[in-house]
Amino acid sequence: MTDPDSRTDNQATDGGQESLASNDLEGSDPTTEPLVDSSIDVGDSTGPSGDEGESRTVIGSRDLDVFYDDVQALQSVDIEIPAEQVTAIIGPSGCGKSTFLRCINRMNDLVDAARVDGELLFEGKNVYDDDVDPVVLRRKIGMVFQTPNPFPKSIYDNVTYGLDVQGVDGDYDEIVENALRRAALWDEVKDQLDSSGLDLSGGQQQRLCIARAIAPDPDVILMDEPASALDPVATSKIEDLIEDLAEEYTVIIVTHNMQQAARISDKTAVFLTGGELVEFDDTEKIFENPEHDRVEDYITGKFG
Ligand SMILES: Nc1ncnc2c1ncn2[C@@H]1O[C@H](COP(=O)(O)OP(=O)(O)O)[C@@H](O)[C@H]1O
Ligand SMILES: [Mg+2]
Repeated sequence: MTDPDSRTDNQATDGGQESLASNDLEGSDPTTEPLVDSSIDVGDSTGPSGDEGESRTVIGSRDLDVFYDDVQALQSVDIEIPAEQVTAIIGPSGCGKSTFLRCINRMNDLVDAARVDGELLFEGKNVYDDDVDPVVLRRKIGMVFQTPNPFPKSIYDNVTYGLDVQGVDGDYDEIVENALRRAALWDEVKDQLDSSGLDLSGGQQQRLCIARAIAPDPDVILMDEPASALDPVATSKIEDLIEDLAEEYTVIIVTHNMQQAARISDKTAVFLTGGELVEFDDTEKIFENPEHDRVEDYITGKFG
């Protein structure tokens, strides 16, 4: 609960200070194409990826280092995260999971001490290039945090918040309904869209935050321990929702709950102390037969 993440909690789809000047990421966006040709149920809990051929990389990093002043939080991270699957990021506290997630949509820009070296690629483009507008980037790559953080506004205004900030046009009523439906919240709130988001239960608030993140129609949704503040029933709803979201979006979820990673993810990345990505593979492989002894020790609870 002393997680440094919380200090950026109110920035979910924010970035309001910066203008929507550059549309560089807009033009060449191939993500409307169907990318995973089939959703074959392989009869286990690891979702549709199976061995049915590798899907396209949407997020990648090359030799990514992150420092907070003199402290190195990530070391030479190389990864290729596939589109429209759930990728879980696991590892002991302090190993850089949140730092990695925040690199992807440049939330680390908001941390003065943070310095990023190497490349973080979104659709092949380095998001740290000078011509990338972080506000446009964050519309494509939404984020949901550990503690549900709806704004003290109506449910409706919470969902449209990111659209307002980013100047998105469109039929807001329709966007709100769609986002709430996709976040599995519509039926519970459709008659109270004007009441405060803060009056909802914790689990509903988190689904509202997910609706807020998906309203601008992103390609990627980042989630940093999105269920760790919720009770088991609310957690299970979020887990079901995450699996559904991966039909349309690339979901990258940090979790310290290994059972949760095993239940909902297709791929799992294991970071260990020192900010090193030690192993990245199909979730089944990581949990059943990891390559590295250190990963096995971590998974079986020998440390961490
Ligand atoms: N804003 C920050 N300022 C300074 N150090 C930070 C900050 N955020 C994280 N760190 C440090 O970076 C390392 C990785 O942290 P973090 O990414 O939060 O790990 P995790 O999410 O895996 O627990 C830790 O040593 C942590 O103390
Ligand atoms: Mg963290």
